[in-house]
Amino acid sequence: MSVNNAMTADFLRSAYGGESMAHMRYLIWGESAEKDGYPNIGRLFKGIAYAEWCHAKNHFNVLKDQVGDNSVVAGAVFGHTNIIENLQGAINGELHEIDQMYPVYLESARFQNEKDAQRSFHFALEAEKIHAKIFQDAQNIAREGKDIGSETIYVCPICGFTEIGDNVDECPVCGAKKEMFKSF
Ligand SMILES: [Fe+2]
Ligand SMILES: [Fe+2]
Repeated sequence: MSVNNAMTADFLRSAYGGESMAHMRYLIWGESAEKDGYPNIGRLFKGIAYAEWCHAKNHFNVLKDQVGDNSVVAGAVFGHTNIIENLQGAINGELHEIDQMYPVYLESARFQNEKDAQRSFHFALEAEKIHAKIFQDAQNIAREGKDIGSETIYVCPICGFTEIGDNVDECPVCGAKKEMFKSF
């Protein structure tokens, strides 16, 4: 994997930074959800944290030949208050990636004919669409003071596709077999 153009490389670094912070944020919010009596929402945060790690790893690997130090500017959501607000932070972060960040990065990578970056941005964009919906559904349930169900949460280790329950045999985004999925 490689990248040739400076702008796409900058976008990969920024996306790597954003995904890295999302990974950490979801682990922190997941721990809080468990402590607050929402173990399944806690598990959801941890599963999706893994998906964001997959995205960060994909971006990082496209940059693997760009050896050296860089300052990275990336969007970050802050706040650690209660489960409803933490879920709203997650929704806001995902929507920023879906509506603004990844569509722009993907178009730029297409314009610059950066095939590996296109793949990495495409995987992240498609997974984030699913994450936004899952977090919104979880918030709706949490607003009633309830936890989500105990179904297994599956995450594709290639693209970060996330599914609650046994509904798919292979990844609809990248085609990976379900046997590869990581479960939470
Ligand atoms: Fe996400
Ligand atoms: Fe996948």
